[in-house]
Amino acid sequence: AKPVRVALLGCGTVGGEVARLLTEQAGELAARAGAPVELAGIAVRRPDKHPELPPELLTSDAAALIDSDVDVVVELVGGIEPTRTWLLSALAQGKSVVTANKALLAEHSAELFVAADASGADLYFEASVAGAIPLLRPLRESLAGDRITRVMGIVNGTTNYILSAMDSTGAGYAETLDEASRLGYAEADPTADVDGYDAASKAAILASLAFHSRVTIADVHREGIGAVGASDIRAAQVLGRTVKLLAICERVTSDDGSESVSARVHPVMIPRSHQLAGVNGAFNAVYVEADAAGELMFYGQGAGGSPTASAVLGDLVAVARNKVGNGHGPRESAHAALPVRPMGQT
Ligand code: HSE
Repeated sequence: AKPVRVALLGCGTVGGEVARLLTEQAGELAARAGAPVELAGIAVRRPDKHPELPPELLTSDAAALIDSDVDVVVELVGGIEPTRTWLLSALAQGKSVVTANKALLAEHSAELFVAADASGADLYFEASVAGAIPLLRPLRESLAGDRITRVMGIVNGTTNYILSAMDSTGAGYAETLDEASRLGYAEADPTADVDGYDAASKAAILASLAFHSRVTIADVHREGIGAVGASDIRAAQVLGRTVKLLAICERVTSDDGSESVSARVHPVMIPRSHQLAGVNGAFNAVYVEADAAGELMFYGQGAGGSPTASAVLGDLVAVARNKVGNGHGPRESAHAALPVRPMGQT
């Protein structure tokens, strides 16, 4: 079959792993996708800073790469602009998009879904929430026949790493954050992790998919871990508890029987016997409760180059299979049913 040509935007911690795996596992990926998955170009801000990459693939012009002869755009740049403009342009051209960009999806998913559905392109973003853990595909596909009532868990590896270290070694906040950055867990600007914005973006994405709603980050009540000190950790220990930053998304029924969605992110003192208390380091864990399925738990590495690249490659194979088989992924733009509960309402 004709090769599926991939434009890679961004080549940092995750992008570097994606480029490496695409090259090293080309044969296996082609067998699984049904066609060769070919890296057509890599857009980076400073091509001269990437001596490790084939120079003929490098460009600093992402827009031109998107407009060139490519089938799929993999976006690992992050941020809202110019990525939003790039991805809307790709989707308008019928080019499928694979992205890890939680901030963008948490603000503009409605617009991106409409653009994808209008041209018949796919929009996959498994890597945007909980790194390697297959979570969005189960919510969008495996559980599409069920009625989800709750999604709750640890979705930020950096803060979990910091809280775990503070709990186990009594290590200081600043040194632990530096280590999380060094290991490639933290965002370029780690305040996005520490202040809960990263987890709030993920909560918005999870709530939108789980409840067929359109939750944005502005709808998510957010508290980070900035105010959690060593004395809080000790107090929790005395009570047989530990502190975790949780994202909690719920289907809420009002007295009049109407339903809405509520989403929040904040530190919680949980009993040490709770399963989430044992989720340490850069691991994430998410519970999903659904009427027919009951309780499900998803667990694995939620941050870091390789785990996140695994999710990106999985999406890439899915998109390539759809292309080869003339199919497409789930359509989302038709949903927008369940309203979002205004913040502060209990
Ligand atoms: N900064 C994020 C985290 C990366 O720490 O979880 C994965 O989305």
